[in-house]
Amino acid sequence: MDKIKILDKSFSLFLDKKKIKSSISEIARTINTDYSGKNPLFLTVLNGAFMFASELFQHLDIDCEISFVKLASYQGTDTTGNVKKLIGLNEQIKNKHVIIVEDIVDTGITIDKIRAQLEQDKPASIKVASMLFKPGKFKVGHQPEYIGIEIPDDFIVGFGLDYDGRGRNLNQIYKIDNE
Ligand code: IMP
Ligand code: MG
Repeated sequence: MDKIKILDKSFSLFLDKKKIKSSISEIARTINTDYSGKNPLFLTVLNGAFMFASELFQHLDIDCEISFVKLASYQGTDTTGNVKKLIGLNEQIKNKHVIIVEDIVDTGITIDKIRAQLEQDKPASIKVASMLFKPGKFKVGHQPEYIGIEIPDDFIVGFGLDYDGRGRNLNQIYKIDNE
């Protein structure tokens, strides 16, 4: 299907299954080489990265650990009144080579916060693998070290990414139609 509707918005096919999967296997190939013998710990950021992670991990042939984390909003004393905290991390990350697995890096704010929280626990290294990257919107922190596909600034949905909670199950990526 090339056109879909989710809630009030319409979307058109942007990245097909084949393109998504080949870009992910390319990332896996590079990580297999870069992390051979290093036993990295993959931290997948839920919810959005679950489909990317599942595809990526099936192509890894190195010894590694795999785990899942989530950013939870809670009311804090931050000036915005809304602080995000990383939850679900049960592994010791000290002296480990950590690879954060993200669906998309847009402004970079989310991944920057995650990196900062993890750095407090003194891992040996931290790198980010992101299925998608929007260079036009990026403004803070490091660029992801491993990027599947660079995309324009438009809002997209599918392959884990949602519009208002919907569309994560789509096996291709769709771009919002400009009205
Ligand atoms: P950032 O903090 O601006 O880099 O945004 C990262 C988060 O915003 C991602 O983890 C996504 O959950 C969400 N996001 C950014 N762009 C899109 C998009 O085009 N579609 C769906 N979610 C997006
Ligand atoms: Mg996300």
